[in-house]
Amino acid sequence: MAQRKKDYRVIVVGVGMVGSMMVRVLRERKFPAKEIKILATRERIEEIAGRKYQVKVADAQEFDGFDLAFFAGTEGASGASKLYGWEAVSRGVVVIDNGKDFRMDPRVPLVVPEVNAEALKRHQGFIANPNCSTTQMVVALAPIHRAARIKRIVVSTYQAVSGTGSKARVELEQQVRDWAAGKKPVWEQYVAPIAFNLMPQIAGLKHEFPGYYEEEIKMVKETRKILGDPRLQVSATCVRVPVLNGHSEAINVQTAKKLSVAQARRLLAKAPGVVLVDQPDLDQKKLKFLDPRRSRWPYPQMADGRDEVFVGRIREDLSAKNALDLFCVSDNIRKGAATNAVQIAEELVKRNLL
Ligand SMILES: NC(=O)c1ccc[n+]([C@@H]2O[C@H](COP(=O)([O-])OP(=O)(O)OC[C@H]3O[C@@H](n4cnc5c(N)ncnc54)[C@H](OP(=O)(O)O)[C@@H]3O)[C@@H](O)[C@H]2O)c1
Repeated sequence: MAQRKKDYRVIVVGVGMVGSMMVRVLRERKFPAKEIKILATRERIEEIAGRKYQVKVADAQEFDGFDLAFFAGTEGASGASKLYGWEAVSRGVVVIDNGKDFRMDPRVPLVVPEVNAEALKRHQGFIANPNCSTTQMVVALAPIHRAARIKRIVVSTYQAVSGTGSKARVELEQQVRDWAAGKKPVWEQYVAPIAFNLMPQIAGLKHEFPGYYEEEIKMVKETRKILGDPRLQVSATCVRVPVLNGHSEAINVQTAKKLSVAQARRLLAKAPGVVLVDQPDLDQKKLKFLDPRRSRWPYPQMADGRDEVFVGRIREDLSAKNALDLFCVSDNIRKGAATNAVQIAEELVKRNLL
């Protein structure tokens, strides 16, 4: 067996909310990187978690001699992944891409390490990180799928503004301040003010599935690919809510085999990457803000800054056979993007696939 390298030369492409969180998570988790180079559209110095980084302009030659590249640039034709992703692979770099451009490409494994790390064995140098809403859902559902085979999922999401980007966070905070000062809100990021409001539309309308917006279609397709079942029935409604960070999801799941609430709780209590917060009978007086052990159910602020998926409200769906309802929350910038990408890299190192 080839000798495992100890220190890798790493590139992070894009230094917005996701790219800078990737650098932070790489350092926090002590990924064996002897160098982290950051590429973006313009040169400057960026400070991340107390360290200064020289940001260079992205260019194909910048990838020469590097082992691993995390892509967190914008998506689409002028985005970094399309411009430099496969080019980097041809220069010997393993790419972990955070965007949507190649997630459904048959050459590209779409990986959530707690769920389908095995898919990494077949990688051809390019690996994709799923959409944030899909990632937390499959972490919560994989143990149920393994035990009882999921046939159908109906999910409604409550997605934080951080998923739109840092400008949307700033806009929500400003709208709240304006509202408190009795001023009219100003908005740019969404079609209406997001403060004290919500929007049942995330991304554009796609003709492929009439009536569904793109985020909903991603949840259908990506879930099928990750769970390895192209016939899995998934219906999603994705809603943007005035939460700063942390996506929530109400999930109804129907299985081939019956699973009791107690069995589901037992499975989730020991599932990797899951924190079970499901204490419906807990005395109201014992509730303590932000402490998962003293909460009846998960909520977004509990997940903010954490890497796990918090799952609760597990109950039998009384209206259908073999069906359960549950609620999960997760930090969409960490587990939904940066942490999952770094965990993929850790798994590559562990499996000697880098
Ligand atoms: N997996 C997920 O669930 C998830 C969650 C959130 C976001 N995302 C995706 O992750 C990506 C980054 O999101 P974000 O919120 O961090 O975006 P952002 O704040 O807009 O940052 C984008 C970064 O990409 C850089 N960039 C853009 N085009 C580039 C190019 N052609 N070459 C090199 N760098 C380029 C920008 O450079 P400058 O700084 O120089 O402008 C910027 O640093 C997006 O594709 C987003 O959709 C995924």
